[in-house]
Amino acid sequence: SARADTAGAAHGGEQAEAVMPGAQALGMPSGGPLPEGLRLPLERKDGVLHGCLTAAPLNLPLLPGGKPTAFWAYNDSVPGPAIELLEGETLALRFENRLPQATTVHWHGLPIPADQDGNPHDAVPSGQAREYRFTLPPGSAGTYWYHPHPHGHTAEQVYRGLAGVFVVRSRNDTLAHLPERWLVLSDLKLDGDGQIAANSEADRMDGREGQFVLVNGAWQPRLTLGMGERQRWRVWNATSARVLKLALPAHEVWLVGTDGGLIERPRRVEYVLLPPGARVELAVTGRFAPDKPSGLLALPYARGKMMGPEQDKALPLVGIEAGAAVATAALPRRLGKVAALPKPTVRRRVVFSEDMANPAAMFLINGQTFDMDRVDFVGKVGQVEEWEIDNQADMDHPFHLHGTQFQVTERHDGQGWKKEPFLAWRDVVNVPPEQKVRLRFRQELPGPRMFHCHILEHEDAGMMGVLDVRA
Ligand code: C2O
Ligand code: CU
Ligand code: CU
Repeated sequence: SARADTAGAAHGGEQAEAVMPGAQALGMPSGGPLPEGLRLPLERKDGVLHGCLTAAPLNLPLLPGGKPTAFWAYNDSVPGPAIELLEGETLALRFENRLPQATTVHWHGLPIPADQDGNPHDAVPSGQAREYRFTLPPGSAGTYWYHPHPHGHTAEQVYRGLAGVFVVRSRNDTLAHLPERWLVLSDLKLDGDGQIAANSEADRMDGREGQFVLVNGAWQPRLTLGMGERQRWRVWNATSARVLKLALPAHEVWLVGTDGGLIERPRRVEYVLLPPGARVELAVTGRFAPDKPSGLLALPYARGKMMGPEQDKALPLVGIEAGAAVATAALPRRLGKVAALPKPTVRRRVVFSEDMANPAAMFLINGQTFDMDRVDFVGKVGQVEEWEIDNQADMDHPFHLHGTQFQVTERHDGQGWKKEPFLAWRDVVNVPPEQKVRLRFRQELPGPRMFHCHILEHEDAGMMGVLDVRA
């Protein structure tokens, strides 16, 4: 984490002259407290956890001898302070906006009331404050995050540094015995003066990608993993637009959880595809082989960009050194239960398309761009819906829905429908061009819920709609 007071070790390289702050945030002990200063201080009063979150400008010295880089940050930290709660707990957060523009705090993925969810309709003007208050329902254990969601300025506020993680724990967590690491992947694009660059025309089309993919605010940090040691990793894709094909070639990796919590059984994986906004939980065991690179990589992935070049080389994200041998902790065969959602009573279609001839309305959902005063779909509390997301555009668009978690049931790869091989709770799913995804969900709370492409530039450009859930 990059904090004003602890700009730490430098990680040099030819790729950039920027010196990123240190990697002190990488290791977090099992179930125990996060390093102080990286976690939001919470105070328990009458059974409610109270905290304060402030969004404000922050200058961080990144370049040796140069001018500090001007970020926007939550509580002077990039990424923002981590929030960790138990299912059933209530959070009351006083939020203060000291940015020069309006903002909101959106609790990405959490099943909380719509009027607490930081919708663009509920802006907090510059210089003002509000309280966000919500209770985490049973079954909500999972890996979430928070970020701004103001009308038209989400991308800018996130790329300036506003994002933090939110973990909900269960009291009967089948992986509580594993030591944890939390890796927040974000993107940093600097201009020649070491300042955060504004979005270019290509960024607005393809979604922004900077020179750096940061891990907990550090560039290419190194960590130590014991030989044979099994850890639980939570990984967040907090970049604007990168589809990260994550691999740890030397190590043994099992997928154990998705956005909304644990899956039923561990699945051995060679890589995971993590679209913008999505999270994953992995069980990673330290195996070291001289012929395999030891580290976390983003493998090349072509997402059909219109203007910029595709990533053609593996991107090293984290270096991993071999530590002392450690007895490998058991990985339970049953992690938990993911109950399949029943047959839907409502079916809808969401078509993504692009209209390159119309710069004012380029990224469309069902032929329209976002309108704050329009309701696109009317839903009902408790009803099971099935949505078919049909990407008729030329690039990948990751679909995201607020207020609940969904289950992907089938994917159409252009040839035919394929049943999803396992049950999982998600709130983001990548949809490549000419492909389709079917997903089911149930909204348990009333109110307007946003759905949109999680490439933040596309969201800002209007690739977003509103599902109004009525009681
Ligand atoms: Cu992570 Cu509507 O957003
Ligand atoms: Cu969200
Ligand atoms: Cu998109």
